[in-house]
Amino acid sequence: MSMNKNAPIAIFDSGVGGLSVFKEIEKLMPNENLIYFGDTARVPYGTRSAETIRRFVKSDLDFLFRFAPKLIVVACGTASCVGAPVLEEECEHFTSVISPSAIAAAKTTKSGRIGVISTAATLKSGAFENKIKELLPAAEVYTKAAQMFVNVVENGWIEEDNEIANAVAKEYLKDLKKQHVDTLILGCTHFPLLSKVIQKQMGEDVTLISSGYETALAAKMDLEALGLRSDSTVAGTKKFFVSDDLESFCQLGAVFLGHAIDRDEAELVEVG
Ligand code: DGL
Repeated sequence: MSMNKNAPIAIFDSGVGGLSVFKEIEKLMPNENLIYFGDTARVPYGTRSAETIRRFVKSDLDFLFRFAPKLIVVACGTASCVGAPVLEEECEHFTSVISPSAIAAAKTTKSGRIGVISTAATLKSGAFENKIKELLPAAEVYTKAAQMFVNVVENGWIEEDNEIANAVAKEYLKDLKKQHVDTLILGCTHFPLLSKVIQKQMGEDVTLISSGYETALAAKMDLEALGLRSDSTVAGTKKFFVSDDLESFCQLGAVFLGHAIDRDEAELVEVG
């Protein structure tokens, strides 16, 4: 890894969803050079075993290290939680989605009743729950795996009144609603795109914690603490790599980012 201020920030996810973190980083730190890798050939990670996810994370990192990044940002909930041992061993500096989201939830809750929705592998790791309890030992944490939200988003069913999105949300969120959580962590890259649907099901009194924004903010603070923020005054460069189906990535990516991905900035690579 690099200690050069102008080295890139490398952001990765199991697929396109991590662009929800990329988008916030782009907004917060427009002068940074950014590299994104989406492992679209092996997505989803959230349904796989810990051993497989860790093997994937190791090969994702090996690919990103070629660019000598100054910071790795793990934009994937599953890679952050299940891949934690690999990240700790391999990366000098990394920001993952666990702490930023847990800290925000611990600060936000008044009742101490916090919900977490994530993939099945993330839930099984207990990472969010452990971090929240470390910060707020009296917290009551209620978790729910909501893997089908990933497919709902991948299909573009993200409008507030979409019937499928609302039906899936109703089913997944009914138990958390009964538990009267006042704060809900969206512990998966895809879920912020369903914020309006989730908010409608949970009610206006529940605060949603979007890991995208919180993680971007944490990455900025981590770089500042390391003295590695870029001092460039011009817009940073952007480069997107995917391991499969560049076309779909660019199409769906535009939905996540809110702007088109320039085809010159996107490339298909073999990883793993
Ligand atoms: N990126 C994953 C996450 O944030 C969701 C998609 C998957 O299961 O790989 O957990």
